[in-house]
Amino acid sequence: MKKIFALLVTALMVLSLVGCTSEPTPEATGTPEAGGAAKEFNVGVSIYKFDDNFMTLYRQEIEAYFSELNTEEVKYNVTVQDAKNDMAEQSAQIDAFIAQEVDVMIINLVQSTSAALAIEKCESSGIPCIFINREPSEEDMKLNVGNIAYVGADARQSGKMQGEIIADLDNKGDLNGDGVLSYVMVVGDPENVDAQYRTEFSISQYIETSGLEVEKLDEQRGDWDIVRGQEIVAAALAQHGDSIEVVFCNNDGMALGALQAITAAGRVVGEDIYLVGVDALDEVVDLIETGEFTGTVLNDHIAQSHTAVDAAISAINGEALETYYWVDYVKVVKD
Ligand code: GAL
Repeated sequence: MKKIFALLVTALMVLSLVGCTSEPTPEATGTPEAGGAAKEFNVGVSIYKFDDNFMTLYRQEIEAYFSELNTEEVKYNVTVQDAKNDMAEQSAQIDAFIAQEVDVMIINLVQSTSAALAIEKCESSGIPCIFINREPSEEDMKLNVGNIAYVGADARQSGKMQGEIIADLDNKGDLNGDGVLSYVMVVGDPENVDAQYRTEFSISQYIETSGLEVEKLDEQRGDWDIVRGQEIVAAALAQHGDSIEVVFCNNDGMALGALQAITAAGRVVGEDIYLVGVDALDEVVDLIETGEFTGTVLNDHIAQSHTAVDAAISAINGEALETYYWVDYVKVVKD
């Protein structure tokens, strides 16, 4: 009898444990699936434009990581939209996400200067919002503390690394040995802090590390785009010819365009000109290995997208968000 009682008690304990573990992990607002135990959560993602090399890798990884995190108990329905580089379009997407009562939003702003408007929408709807890649101003980030976050990398670091890559070359990039580095700068989008900081810090860090002077031969806006990179550098080469020692590009996309122009002009990277970018696209990493590209800086889309998704899930679980989540850049040069 004693034995049967003990067995019954054990069976009851096991049952109650099973009861506990079958509870869905997130506590918050999801809707249980009809007849099933899974809770569903809706995530609205708006990307500044789909036609961007780096942000394509980033958004694909957001989707891949969310689907990895789907379990029998929790399902994340992720909608990713293309804002087509149009702030009005993005605003409408945010309004639609709010109307659909998504559980969290991940926003890659078209214009960082329009952050306040987006933050106001997060605040009035009570929907947490994770900004990625395009950093709102510090002032804006104080607007809805706990309900908003920025996930990104400190672009000053990437600029400094670009400057160091050139300063660390045996000749410090000064091909003609005149003590002055003559360069062309291809800028992303001047409204974007990534572009501002990379443009500024690549040069200031170069001067600090090398001890040499610099001469800017040209600086043009290329909007992160390969075709613009090619056009800008082709024009600069036509105008300044052999005086150009280094082409600094705010990203690898534009640098790949620059490389086409450099090759078309009969110049050879690593021999009579140097070229640096940022992002570490696979194609560029391969070119660095074969010596056809001087260096780049890894803009870690895997770590950034996972951090953004993890933050989104904590917000879904009702946790207060930290204001900033930072991911480090990493220098990439030939082994
Ligand atoms: C930068 C990246 C660029 C471009 C830009 C878009 O961080 O290096 O390639 O994607 O973001 O905002």
